[in-house]
Amino acid sequence: MNEQEKPDKTRRNLIVATSAVGAVAGLGAAVPFVASMWPSERAKAAGAPIEVDLSLIAPGEIKTFEWRGKPVWVIRRTQEMLASLKAAEGRLSDPASKASEQPKYAENEYRSQKPEIMVMEGVCTHLGCSPQMKPADAKGEMGGDWVGGFYCPCHGSKFDLAGRVFRGAPAPVNLKVPPYEFITDGTLVIGEDKEKKGA
Ligand code: FES
Repeated sequence: MNEQEKPDKTRRNLIVATSAVGAVAGLGAAVPFVASMWPSERAKAAGAPIEVDLSLIAPGEIKTFEWRGKPVWVIRRTQEMLASLKAAEGRLSDPASKASEQPKYAENEYRSQKPEIMVMEGVCTHLGCSPQMKPADAKGEMGGDWVGGFYCPCHGSKFDLAGRVFRGAPAPVNLKVPPYEFITDGTLVIGEDKEKKGA
C-alpha cells in the first residue's frame, strides 16, 4: 500500500461506519413510530364496536355493555315506559335535549332511532358515577310522582327513561347517547354511525 491510498481508505471506512450507525439509528427511530401507529389488540378491542343481539333483551329489561371502557345501556322500552316520557316532560331540565349530547338520529322525543330501543351511556353527567335503574313502582323510595328512570346515588341526580335529567339535580345535562346503528331488525352495533360513514 502506498502512502497516497491511505487517506482514501480511511475516508471509505468512515463513510461505511457512519452509514451503518445511521441505519441503526434510523431503524431505532422507525420502530417506535411504526409501533405507535398500530394500536395493541387490547386497545383495538376496547374501542371496537359492539354487536348487541336484541332478542336477548325482554320488554322492560335493561342490559349493560362495555364500550370504550364505559357502561352502555340498551333498554327495550314498553309502551308504558314510552308513555312515562311524556309524563316526565314538565319536570325536566332539557326536555328537547338541546344542550345534551346525542347523534342527530336521536334528536327526537324518544332520544332514539326506534322508540322502543333506547341506547345511552350509563355515566352520570355530573361527576361520572353510574346511575341505577328505578322502575315506576319504586315510588316509596323515589317519591309519589316517580314515573320510572334512573337515580344516581352519588349526589342524587334523577333521569327519566330517555336519560333526560330532572330539574334540581346536580347533573347539568342529559345522559349521553353514543353512536349506534341497526344492522338488522334484531341486531344493533354500538360504536358504528351511519351518519359519520356518510350513508
Ligand atoms: S355523579 Fe351523579 S349526581 Fe353526582
